[in-house]
Amino acid sequence: MNKKIKKIFSKKNKSKIICLTSYSKNIAEEADKYADIILVGDSLGSVLYNHNTTRKVTLTNMIEHSKSVRLGVKKSLMVVDMPYNSYKSKNLALKNAKKIIKETKCDAVKLEGGKNILEQVKFLIKNKIPVMGHLGLLPQTNKGKFKSKGRTSKEKKKILSDSILLQNSGVFSIVLECVKTSTAMQITKALKIPTIGIGSSVHCDGQVLVTDDLVGLNNTKIRFVKKFINMKKYLNLGFKKFTSEVKSKKYPSKKYSY
Ligand code: KIV
Repeated sequence: MNKKIKKIFSKKNKSKIICLTSYSKNIAEEADKYADIILVGDSLGSVLYNHNTTRKVTLTNMIEHSKSVRLGVKKSLMVVDMPYNSYKSKNLALKNAKKIIKETKCDAVKLEGGKNILEQVKFLIKNKIPVMGHLGLLPQTNKGKFKSKGRTSKEKKKILSDSILLQNSGVFSIVLECVKTSTAMQITKALKIPTIGIGSSVHCDGQVLVTDDLVGLNNTKIRFVKKFINMKKYLNLGFKKFTSEVKSKKYPSKKYSY
């Protein structure tokens, strides 16, 4: 087993796992100082390209952003989302996962779904490709609004059974998105592998947030998003100073000129 995956495993029931998203080198370099896992999420479709769905994200989008992220990641486990339609069958999943790994040198891929994608997950793992699962709200197939999952007993049973199926297929961790607190707690207790929550309560083994959301660069009103800083304020400060010094001819002074 990959050393970095072993380290993540060893944190279960001991210390929280930190997962951050990144779409480019400079952010990845800073995130890498804190994260156990850096995820190149297909959320880049909405965050960077204003798509109203992650379905429009292409394999090329994922690969190009991941190549940049790779340049900034030294110590964390780097996981890349497989975009919509890139794992419709087990052979397609293998072909595309191999391409992602070869071109980006990432450590693992993430796929959304449970029982419906088990064949693909098993096939990737059989071919030595580490896989991270994703259950609960699945942005690639979700229709309608952001609604929590696992509220009805039918939904709860389904997410629990999917998580066990994924674990038994060999995934090393599962992202639980917008899963009701009691369901996330039950799943986390039932699994030997770590759960990474996003809007799924403090009971998960780790947490992930989209970096642009947590630093306040992305205007989103999703309930689980906490803005830990207001990065826009700092950008504006820098841009304002630059503008003022250019206009007053203070910049570039001799020191900054050839
Ligand atoms: O696409 C993404 O960034 C994700 C995380 C939010 C879990 O899947």
